[in-house]
Amino acid sequence: MADGDFPVLIEEVSIQKRVEQLAEEISRDYQGSDLHVLGVLRGAYQFTRDLSTKMGLPHTVDYISVASYGQETTSSGTLQLRMDMSKPIEGKHVLLVDDIVDTGITLNWLLDYLKSRRPQSIRTCCFLDKPSRRQVEVPTDYVGFPIEDVFVIGYGLDYQEKYRDLPFISRVSPEEVLI
Ligand code: PRP
Repeated sequence: MADGDFPVLIEEVSIQKRVEQLAEEISRDYQGSDLHVLGVLRGAYQFTRDLSTKMGLPHTVDYISVASYGQETTSSGTLQLRMDMSKPIEGKHVLLVDDIVDTGITLNWLLDYLKSRRPQSIRTCCFLDKPSRRQVEVPTDYVGFPIEDVFVIGYGLDYQEKYRDLPFISRVSPEEVLI
C-alpha cells in the first residue's frame, strides 16, 4: 500500500502538536531535575526522538528493548530483554517512553525491571493508550491519545515490522494491509 492509501486516524500535524504539548508539560514538571528519557524500542523510536527534540530542558536519552512473543498483533505476556540500557539509572529521574500501552504487560514488566535498578523516580509517557484492553494496571503519567480497541500502524507502530515509518497513525484491519 502507498502512504496515501492508509485511512488516517491521527494526522501528522495533530501528532506533532500533541507531542509539543507533552514536551512542554514534561519540561515544566522536571524543571531543575536531572531528567533521563528512556525510550522503548522499537516502537517508540519516533515518539522518543520527537519528544526529546521538543523538550526545553537539558536531559539524557537512552533506549531499552524488550520482545514479546506469541500472537502477531497483540503482546503475548512472554517478555524477554532484547537490548539493555547503555547507562545505569540509579539515582536518576527516569521517564519511560513507549509508543502504546495495550494490555499493560510490557510496561508492567519494564517498571519492575527498572525499579530494581534503583532510580530516584520513574514516570511513564505513552503516545497511545488503549485502556479497554488493560490486563495489568499500570501508571500512565503522560498520554498522547487514548484510543479505542482498533488496530493501528504508523509513527513507530508496525504490522509485521513494516509501516513504522508512516508519519501519521492509520487505523487498519491486519487483513487489509498488503505486504
Ligand atoms: C508493542 C509496543 C509496546 C507493547 C504494548 O511492542 O511497542 O511496547 O507492544 O503492548 P502491551 O501493553 O500489550 O504489553 P512490541 O512487543 O510489538 O515490540 P516493538 O516495539 O518492537 O514493535
